[in-house]
Amino acid sequence: MKHNEDRLDQSWVANAEAWTQSVREQQIESRKLATDQAVVNEITSYHPKRVLDVGCGEGWLARVLSQQGLEVVGIDGSNELIKRAEALGGGSFHHLNYTELGDNPTQLGDAFDVIVCNFSILSEDITLLLQSLSTILSSEGVLIIHTLHPFFVANSDRYEDGWKTESFNGMGEGYKTEMPWYFRTIGSWIQELNDAGLQLKSCKEPIHPVTGKPLSLLLSARKV
Ligand SMILES: C[S@@+](CC[C@H](N)C(=O)[O-])C[C@H]1O[C@@H](n2cnc3c(N)ncnc32)[C@H](O)[C@@H]1O
Repeated sequence: MKHNEDRLDQSWVANAEAWTQSVREQQIESRKLATDQAVVNEITSYHPKRVLDVGCGEGWLARVLSQQGLEVVGIDGSNELIKRAEALGGGSFHHLNYTELGDNPTQLGDAFDVIVCNFSILSEDITLLLQSLSTILSSEGVLIIHTLHPFFVANSDRYEDGWKTESFNGMGEGYKTEMPWYFRTIGSWIQELNDAGLQLKSCKEPIHPVTGKPLSLLLSARKV
């Protein structure tokens, strides 16, 4: 739905300052408790040299990986977030949306050892994006998709693909607008990967250390 996609894009411009503060001041509990470390561990377990951070936001993940000696390229559709990422360094950052990347996938290089999408695939139609990411992975490269665990959605809603709304409650102050985002079931994620010529290799579910409930879904795939 075009209307939702436009609002999704605009939300990351309007909320850039609030989001940057939430991330840098560790105001998102699930990230602090488990999911940040889980994605870093997953990436480094493949011993990559070159990483593409897709939807890098204000750049925290690129900075962590750069500090470990990895070469990181970050892209994001919000120039407001890219400017904030560039200000702290730790990678080469580019203002680029997924459609623009899909139009010319090799414009930022190819043969990436790892491509990571950390809570950054939020659109309904992702086929072109995943296909283009597949073409710029090295032959043994890994695509890592980290996303909200379906457990949360299934708890209060029907377990089926569809648009949801994120209000950022409990994530910090200063958010100016809600964000529409597209939920998909685990089966739907696997189908999307297969449609892009990718095969699921690992599925991890970081757990809340106190409640024992799953916090996120961490999918890793290779080219078939
Ligand atoms: C929840 S934030 C995650 C940011 C970062 N990966 C992190 O871990 O903090 C989602 C990010 O995806 C980006 N994004 C979503 N859809 C996009 C698109 N179609 N093109 C480019 N960036 C997009 C947003 O601008 C935003 O920075």
